[in-house]
Amino acid sequence: MTDRILILDFGSQVTQLIARRLRESGVYCEIHPFNRMDDAAIRAFAPKAVILSGGPASVTEVDTPRAPDLVFKLDVPVLGICYGQQAMCAQLGGTVETSDHREFGKADVEVKAPSKLFEGLWDKGGQYQVWMSHGDRVTRLPPGFRVIATSPGAPFAILADEERKFYGVMFHPEVVHTPDGGRLLENFAKRIAGVKGDWTMKAFRAQAIEAIRRQVGKGKVICGLSGGVDSSVAAVLIHEAIGDQLTCIFVDHGLLRQGESEEVVRLFRGHYNIPLVHRDASDLFLGRLAGVSDPEQKRKIIGSTFIDVFDEEAHKIGGADFLAQGTLYPDVIESVSFSGGPSVTIKSHHNVGGLPERMKLKLVEPLRELFKDEVRDLGRELGLPETLVGRHPFPGPGLAIRVPGTIDRAKLDILRKADAIYLEEIRKSGLYDKIWQAFAVLLPVRTVGVMGDGRTYDQVCGLRAVTSTDGMTAESYPFEHAFLARVATRIINEVKGINRVVYDVTSKPPGTIEWE
Ligand code: XMP
Repeated sequence: MTDRILILDFGSQVTQLIARRLRESGVYCEIHPFNRMDDAAIRAFAPKAVILSGGPASVTEVDTPRAPDLVFKLDVPVLGICYGQQAMCAQLGGTVETSDHREFGKADVEVKAPSKLFEGLWDKGGQYQVWMSHGDRVTRLPPGFRVIATSPGAPFAILADEERKFYGVMFHPEVVHTPDGGRLLENFAKRIAGVKGDWTMKAFRAQAIEAIRRQVGKGKVICGLSGGVDSSVAAVLIHEAIGDQLTCIFVDHGLLRQGESEEVVRLFRGHYNIPLVHRDASDLFLGRLAGVSDPEQKRKIIGSTFIDVFDEEAHKIGGADFLAQGTLYPDVIESVSFSGGPSVTIKSHHNVGGLPERMKLKLVEPLRELFKDEVRDLGRELGLPETLVGRHPFPGPGLAIRVPGTIDRAKLDILRKADAIYLEEIRKSGLYDKIWQAFAVLLPVRTVGVMGDGRTYDQVCGLRAVTSTDGMTAESYPFEHAFLARVATRIINEVKGINRVVYDVTSKPPGTIEWE
């Protein structure tokens, strides 16, 4: 088994980044809520080290989270970050108090004593930038600990019990504003915990193939392809593991971009030789969507039609034992909620939820442990083309949510042409990889124009491009005006039915990335 680190989450906004930073240095780790693993589960996980994350609570209040006591008895290194540091100190006999000197943002720590944590990185007497965010602070050290770095606002900025290999940092090493933070975490993992750091995509590929074979045995697997990165990578990986025990089902809803359906068929059937059912169900989808203008209604229709068609096709090939899904790690991590209440649904993104229940299939989810960019790396490792691996995210309901209001084939054709021109120009300008997502929207508005000597009365095309790291927040991409003008001219000249182009400068929030 690969060496692994257990991250116990106390609910910080940035806990995922701890995992990111560690994995960047080849260290495998998993995040679990602090209160969901019993002692047996922790022992079974067999961590080489434990990291306690930050969190919004205050150790000084009653009934706030604590780490399972077992963590400190496993005889493995423990690193507490921010709230994690304070919880650790409180649990091991130190004192934590609410400070009237709150500290948020950049600060410099001064190293007071050498430590394995700093090896090859920070020297005694040196000052280094970190990112603080705390109100409480440790005021009395637990037995065995000493201070190894201080900052003006945090006299106990870094604590260590080198004997037991327990460390506590008051700042967040996982964020980019702590420039050496990734390497501090790497030191903790490799130099202190002795983790080998051999988590590579090559190693993952081999492990995942073994795991898929073990799980599936001689069973049959079906996998829904969408043309996106996740389902494609999952399918190719599973095919490598079990060959033709896998059949891919591509339910073509007629809402994909220009050339995408053909590409899926060419790649999977032609190049990879994977058994593929391609069902052109566009008539069915568009029929059920006819006259529907409410965005949530559209999503529901598409989701349930997808399930109907998929189920039908699966029966035609004689059923299956397993359903493969490209579920990613961020979908799996259970978030720790302190507010308790459910969050408001802005859009129902999980369009095909319900499929495994309805079909009574067991799930194969080989990407469950990966972040999006790791899936891309795995795709490259498996030889998938860069145009697919590096592709912008594309929503399940496809172009249906990029034609506000009712949709039909004619509108979709117009949108496809405009979108293709826009993306072609973005690629030509070398901007594709700088943008999280870019697409055209066909607005249900007609405006008057003049072309040649004639009057036109056609539709408006909206252009959207955003930068983002996770799709949760986004900024409109600041194209040069000349670029936008060039795209607008091409679209109006080449796409019949559009006579005006506008650019969307809204950020998210308050807007969303898609228009519906
Ligand atoms: P919004 O529009 O909510 O989009 O800011 C955030 C990200 O989610 C994608 N998106 C969807 N993906 N089904 C999906 O699979 C959906 O119904 C859906 N709606 C939005 C959107 O493209 C962006 O990447």
